[in-house]
Amino acid sequence: MRPLRLGIIGAGLMGREMASAVSRWCALEDVGIGCEITAVCDLAPGARAWFRRLPSVSLTTADHRELLASDQVDAVYVAVPHQLHEKIYLDVIEAGKDLLAEKPFGIDLAAARKIAARSKELGRFVRCSSEFPFLPGAQRVFQFAREGKLGRPLEVRSAFLHSSDLDPSKPVNWKRQNVTCGEIGVMGDLGMHVMHLPLRLGWKPKRVYAQLQKVYRERPDGKGGTAAADTWDNAVLHADAEVLGEEIPLRLEMKRLSPGDTNSWIFEVTGTDAGARFSTKDPKALWLFRRGKEQSWERIDLGFAMPFKTVTGGIFEPGFPDILQQMLAAFAAERAGLLGERFGCVTPDEAVASHEVFAAALDSHRTRKAVEL
Ligand SMILES: NC(=O)c1ccc[n+]([C@@H]2O[C@H](COP(=O)([O-])OP(=O)(O)OC[C@H]3O[C@@H](n4cnc5c(N)ncnc54)[C@H](O)[C@@H]3O)[C@@H](O)[C@H]2O)c1
Repeated sequence: MRPLRLGIIGAGLMGREMASAVSRWCALEDVGIGCEITAVCDLAPGARAWFRRLPSVSLTTADHRELLASDQVDAVYVAVPHQLHEKIYLDVIEAGKDLLAEKPFGIDLAAARKIAARSKELGRFVRCSSEFPFLPGAQRVFQFAREGKLGRPLEVRSAFLHSSDLDPSKPVNWKRQNVTCGEIGVMGDLGMHVMHLPLRLGWKPKRVYAQLQKVYRERPDGKGGTAAADTWDNAVLHADAEVLGEEIPLRLEMKRLSPGDTNSWIFEVTGTDAGARFSTKDPKALWLFRRGKEQSWERIDLGFAMPFKTVTGGIFEPGFPDILQQMLAAFAAERAGLLGERFGCVTPDEAVASHEVFAAALDSHRTRKAVEL
């Protein structure tokens, strides 16, 4: 099978991270398809120049339409600021290319719905980014939750926590301004990461009560002045979801100001008989709760048990670059019909569902009431 020829639009932090994932494709043992980056687009010359280190790249351009016109590109990974998602994602699918979109899949619910509807209409293969569920610990909690051996379900917590914004001298950038990040703020930034597993498990919130916080309203603009930082910094969503036939609390936490959390992704499911917990803070550990004569939380040291097998030794530790590669492997495999039972990327329907929750959260915060979905 011909390798997937990937174009990248937006060669910033994530564009380069994806390039690194592709460059290590030889580590993957059972994807069934290769992958190479053939074309790159970014407005910034420096960002394009970085890609000279990849011999497979034959086209670099500042105009994404030029990349989309290339017959050397099958699918495109787009990692640009959120206000550009709708236009560029639609351009990608209308040019006949498949799309690996970055979250939040459009700046708001209306944009997400338009992108999803158009991709269905045109029959394109479209998926959205969310890599943490590919971690071995996350996969184990997911499998545990799917088996439904909780006893009576108690509650679910899904969280993604950052802390660098605690520093008031951190300059503002497009992620901290509504016009470029979106009115949903931190939910657009971190929300897909907390919604992916609950939605995949069928635990879509039925109603949501949101507590949203803006903490620092101004930040250095990086040019000697200050600029408004008007996005929501922290969001805690108290939702009700049906789990194993019972409505229980589902707590969704997305925070840019969480003391001490550099990039903590947490997923926890508990019931009266059993529970499971994983956090990237302790990335090897799977915690399993058991209620017997005595109650215990058992800690299991996990190795490199990824959905897609790799050459990496089974006892070694996985990290962010590994899961981004796993996510791309899932995209490539599913597009080629080779995913099988393995875990797949966020679908357009799931991305739209996450936006429905974020839109309800804005509404809830405005009215200080729980909002039905
Ligand atoms: N999955 C993850 O873990 C994760 C992490 C960080 C960011 N993201 C998402 O990735 C996307 C990009 O974030 P980032 O951190 O890489 O941002 P970034 O600011 O580092 O990079 C964005 C790049 O887009 C380029 N760009 C802007 N307008 C463009 C245009 N019209 N055409 C081509 N290029 C253009 C910029 O020059 C810049 O290089 C966002 O959607 C963000 O939410 C995902």
